[in-house]
Amino acid sequence: MRIVLVGPPGAGKGTQAAFLAKNLSIPHISTGDLFRANISQKTELGKLAKSYIDAGNLVPDEVTIAMAKDRMEQPDAENGFLLDGFPRNVSQAEALDELLETETMQLDAVLDLEVPEDEVVKRIAGRRVCRNESAHVFHVTYKPPAKEGVCDICGGELYQRGDDSEETVRKRLEVYHTQTEPIIDYYKAQGLVVTISALGKVDDVTTRAMSALSGS
Ligand code: AP5
Ligand code: ZN
Repeated sequence: MRIVLVGPPGAGKGTQAAFLAKNLSIPHISTGDLFRANISQKTELGKLAKSYIDAGNLVPDEVTIAMAKDRMEQPDAENGFLLDGFPRNVSQAEALDELLETETMQLDAVLDLEVPEDEVVKRIAGRRVCRNESAHVFHVTYKPPAKEGVCDICGGELYQRGDDSEETVRKRLEVYHTQTEPIIDYYKAQGLVVTISALGKVDDVTTRAMSALSGS
């Protein structure tokens, strides 16, 4: 399956993507995680992306599309993928369509996670991420680690993302509404959108998502 996951910052895209990708045996491709890996490895791409991410803005399309394309062309993505955080505006959606067309591939579904803004703010404020592996995500209240500040999975240090400050979150939400939400209409026109509520327990959201995708 080829799936795009869309939803506001903090909706739980990364959390759900980990379970969905495992259940569906497809790789989880997160442009946010790819940028963060580049930042921690201090690559040229990381240096460029950092200033945009810290300010809550989108990284320019040219580099983002090239990075996503490169990842989608890896052998493990041949039979499907779950895209998390890409595309993030209509021109990225158009670029993805072009790429899929040249490979004679199609998207199966765009899974839209709906969460009210006050919940998103709570989720982001309490999020803690592992320094070793960005897929190891916790929450101080909703999913506390057994030992404060330490990853349950690998023992790595948990930290708060630099772009999770209140001011940057406000900017990210604004960018989501103005630039990312329009892709939902873009994909609705292709009949691909399935919307679910992302409120409630993580497991319940996964069950809801799996059942919505089984109809796609
Ligand atoms: P990115 O990393 O994609 O950030 P985002 O879209 O803002 O999403 P988040 O990672 O904040 O949240 P999430 O929905 O994954 O939530 P999570 O599962 O962690 O992008 C970061 C930046 O990179 C962008 O701002 C931009 O600058 C750049 N970028 C990335 N892609 C780009 C692109 N295509 N083009 C240009 N720029 C790009 O969950 C949040 C918290 O809630 C966690 O603590 C979790 O434990 C908790 N939680 C999850 N589910 C539940 C639940 N059901 N109940 C209670 N708590 C829950
Ligand atoms: Zn870890």
